[in-house]
Amino acid sequence: MNENILIQNKQSWDTMADSWSGSTALPEYGCLIPTEEELGLFPDLSEKKVLDIGCGSGHSLKWCGDKGASELWGLDLSSKQIDIARQFLCDNNYEAKLFNSPMEVSCGLPAEYFDVVYSIYAIGWTVDLETTFHNVASYLKKDGVFIFSWDHPLMHCLEANDNSLMFKESYLMEEDFSYAQRGNPVTIKNRKLSTYINSLAEAGFLVERLVEETDRQVMEMSAPFQEGYYTPYKAKNFPLSFIIKARKL
Ligand SMILES: C[S@@+](CC[C@H](N)C(=O)[O-])C[C@H]1O[C@@H](n2cnc3c(N)ncnc32)[C@H](O)[C@@H]1O
Repeated sequence: MNENILIQNKQSWDTMADSWSGSTALPEYGCLIPTEEELGLFPDLSEKKVLDIGCGSGHSLKWCGDKGASELWGLDLSSKQIDIARQFLCDNNYEAKLFNSPMEVSCGLPAEYFDVVYSIYAIGWTVDLETTFHNVASYLKKDGVFIFSWDHPLMHCLEANDNSLMFKESYLMEEDFSYAQRGNPVTIKNRKLSTYINSLAEAGFLVERLVEETDRQVMEMSAPFQEGYYTPYKAKNFPLSFIIKARKL
């Protein structure tokens, strides 16, 4: 496991935490893609135990609480995010069990305990996808559900330039790359969709749904060429995020 990347990313997430509150949280799965309200991937959450991997500010956990979940658990690499989540959930009269830990290590979460484990825009931060998926499988009960969303791998490869979309990176290369996020250095790895799906299979999951869609409103609007990362122009040509729903066998 690359400890140095985790240390750098933790420092950056601690610095960014305040500016991120609630930005990527259920019922949203990501940018310009259908929401959970439209997709209905989650089971009925009443009396269900849920775990959020990369829980950030706790907004997704509150959404689960509002839907009737009986226990709210979360983990996050950033101690600042955990503090923010704890306060936010407390302000909303929810009690949650929150762990400050990288998702790549076992941090004392109970085994075969959760009905639903989910992760909204956090799984892609892992420095070890295989171990992370094995950890998630160990936390879930048999037949438990794992749902996560992340940037579509094409986001790293395609750039809007010169009135068109061009490949700036190979889809096949799975290498660490570094950039500044809100002015803070972070390092992340782009992975192919097949890497996510094959790693899920190896960890004992059955993939029930892969969502590669742009939301209907964007598909129906005109979206002229525009530079930028998350733009309607791109979203009309390919999904900006993907979502996977898998079940532990
Ligand atoms: C985009 S935010 C997720 C927001 C969150 N889903 C919500 O509902 O508010 C990504 C989160 O992943 C966390 N993170 C990054 N690397 C991580 C790792 N290796 N292990 C656990 N959490 C990580 C960050 O600290 C950050 O809070």
